[in-house]
Amino acid sequence: MGEQAKLSVGGKDIAYPVLSGSIGPDVVDIRKLYGDTGLFTYDPGFTSTAACESAITFIDGEEGVLLHRGYPIGQLAEHSSFMETCYLLLNGELPGKDELTSFTTTISRHTMVHEQLRQLYQGFRRDAHPMAIMCGVVGALSAFYHDSTDIADPEHRKISSHRLIAKMPTIAAMAYKYSVGQPFMHPDNSLSYTGNFMQMTFGVPAEKYELHPAVEKAMDRIFILHADHEQNASTSTVRLAGSSGANPFACIAAGIACLWGPAHGGANEAALNMLREIGTVDRIPHYIERAKDKNDPFRLMGFGHRVYKNYDPRAAVMQKTVREVFDALKVKDPVFDVALELEHMALNDPYFIDKKLFPNVDFYSGIILSAIGFPTTMFTALFALARTVGWVAQWNEMISDPYQKIGRPRQLYTGAPERDYVPVAKR
Ligand code: SDX
Repeated sequence: MGEQAKLSVGGKDIAYPVLSGSIGPDVVDIRKLYGDTGLFTYDPGFTSTAACESAITFIDGEEGVLLHRGYPIGQLAEHSSFMETCYLLLNGELPGKDELTSFTTTISRHTMVHEQLRQLYQGFRRDAHPMAIMCGVVGALSAFYHDSTDIADPEHRKISSHRLIAKMPTIAAMAYKYSVGQPFMHPDNSLSYTGNFMQMTFGVPAEKYELHPAVEKAMDRIFILHADHEQNASTSTVRLAGSSGANPFACIAAGIACLWGPAHGGANEAALNMLREIGTVDRIPHYIERAKDKNDPFRLMGFGHRVYKNYDPRAAVMQKTVREVFDALKVKDPVFDVALELEHMALNDPYFIDKKLFPNVDFYSGIILSAIGFPTTMFTALFALARTVGWVAQWNEMISDPYQKIGRPRQLYTGAPERDYVPVAKR
């Protein structure tokens, strides 16, 4: 008998098994708690709740560790490619040379979208937020792919996974083109996954598109840094939607909607807007005081994290990438100096030290994306593009989990007890 967690409640002493994973915190298995005691656990925001078993990504928030299938994010960012990381997340192991070539070719063969899908964009205003377009267009994919929505069929799951990973760059690039009134560009499968995305976004039919190698490498690394992140809000949304048997396109659309929130993936857009609003180093103390003021809703966007109580390892790589892109493009942006000084001042301020608030993945990413030429409204769409492989990998894992059932949390009810209806004449 392994270790047990003992609960004494309602005059009863009950023990629940403590389960161990391969690394990380153990869990108390309370699946029988309600049946045994009539009690629910109460954990709004799931700060102490493991909602599933997973082998994809591990985070040690105290140590600032992020592993994808056991490989540290810093090593993947340095040595891997986004396509190789996609294969790793989906299959659990790094691919051999032939496996990688075959996977990359398969993905490239799904980069086009149905011609009818292009009509969907015409229904949006030109100034529609790209995330609004992504929610709508990705959700609509299930109307085009009836041949791969049977989630019980592993082959259907595989092809819809590949379709989603392959088409997100095309859909995101089309959202950008639509917003600037330029023609949609077709995919060019002679290019890398990231190179193809960049030519569909910034290329024009009138001339050959030239992509700076350092920019292609930086974007590919940014995609790696955003690929997956354990059971974050949008991944949990995808899992919950998938638990009802919804088709994968609808589940990913739900994940996109959740990611859009400024507390989550929308923080990259909010962080750059905040840095621009601060504008100069001398205005930083005022904003730090606002962030500390309980009566002021202002928060430092790109700072803090539910899990990381140490420096987000992705932010460290992102900061290094800013320097590389600036050097390659021979550009400077005073906003980077503001970001560096803001980080320095916040990390030496007792408020941030006590609450263990550090820069997260969203703090520096916008500076790079802006230098490359993306409008802030595209930042979260790029996050969604990259996170699709994580959502899809987690969705596949959930569907294949023999213990999975429809997610259906309970509540602590604080509303009115039962009472009789009162006719309006007597109210
Ligand atoms: C992402 O989950 C993931 O893995 C997400 C993500 C991924 O890859 O999927 O990593 C991507 O979403 C990164 C986070 C991006 N969001 C932001 O940068 C928005 C700003 N950050 C905060 O809103 C906040 O830090 C959260 C939402 C990220 C985390 O919030 P928690 O875990 O619910 O913590 P909390 O709100 O309870 O804050 C704890 C304390 C509070 O003060 P007290 O009530 O204890 O006095 O810290 C304070 C908060 O007021 N605080 C901040 C702060 N973040 C938290 N104060 C000022 N500025 C901030 N940014």
